[in-house]
Amino acid sequence: MKSYEIRHLYLDFFKEKGHSVVPGSGLIPFDDPTLLFTSAGMVQFKKFWATDTPLSYPRATTCQKCLRAGGKDSDIDKIGITGRHHTFFEMLGNFSFGDYFKKEAIEWAWEFVLEHLKIPAGYIWVSYYEKDDETKEIWKKFLPVERIVPLSDKDNFWGPAGETGVCGPCTELYIDTGIKKGCSSGCRPGCECGRFLEFWNLVFPQYDKQTDGTLLPLKRRGVDTGMGLERITRIMQNAPSNYETDLFLPIIKKIEDISGCSYDKDEKKKPSFRITADHIRAAVFLIDENVLPSNEGRGYVLRRIIRRAEMAGADLDIKEPFLH
Ligand code: ALA
Repeated sequence: MKSYEIRHLYLDFFKEKGHSVVPGSGLIPFDDPTLLFTSAGMVQFKKFWATDTPLSYPRATTCQKCLRAGGKDSDIDKIGITGRHHTFFEMLGNFSFGDYFKKEAIEWAWEFVLEHLKIPAGYIWVSYYEKDDETKEIWKKFLPVERIVPLSDKDNFWGPAGETGVCGPCTELYIDTGIKKGCSSGCRPGCECGRFLEFWNLVFPQYDKQTDGTLLPLKRRGVDTGMGLERITRIMQNAPSNYETDLFLPIIKKIEDISGCSYDKDEKKKPSFRITADHIRAAVFLIDENVLPSNEGRGYVLRRIIRRAEMAGADLDIKEPFLH
């Protein structure tokens, strides 16, 4: 299945379930001075949960471009190393603002994964916030209890995006990529070895975190989910990492043409290919929103991204400027 088909399948599925299909917002949050970049699908909706002013729709679904390259949510140092993190990526999401809650969010996630993506149930594991028994009980309808794993707030309490605002317990869906990839026979979701690939996070926003750390109840509780398009594409295309998918291979092919190096044949050069391919996407989408390289703020993040991509290019024996 192609990445664009997954995008459509997701948005159409949630449209059928009564969600408004809303355009993703820009990478620069339009009314949120606490954030450098849009780091999740929920960013454009933060106020929907925190206020009780009337809304035009109680459910929404989006495909949101995200950047995690600066500030608290930055993944920049993991690029090239893990094969599953990105600076720039797309997040598919469904949202409820004081409307449906855990039961529907979990049932629909299960229905989408099994009936529309057609992933066999035997590959799926989930984690949930250890104090959230309600979520565990809902999952028990679908999965044996051994594959429903409790994790602490470090892993299964999401948010806020930035320092303050909407947050809550979450439950994550993982695919088991096989015992050979695991570190030990007891390896489970939450382990960093890479065997269990998390691909969908279902958050249940319930709290509004204040600057002093207190958690106040939100005006509207709800649902905020995020499925990484690059990860689900990798799963659907049975690729060893996010980079061997139709989202990255054309870029990697171009880097091969420019550098004369081979992505498949030279294992040591793979991280440099991946960094270049990841960072060029981030740079293009930032420049598209009028961010230019500079010494501070967003411009500094872009400058850093371009500099890292040029350095990775140098590792691939590229001597001339090439990113343009
Ligand atoms: N907001 C949640 C995340 O980014 C879905 O993982």
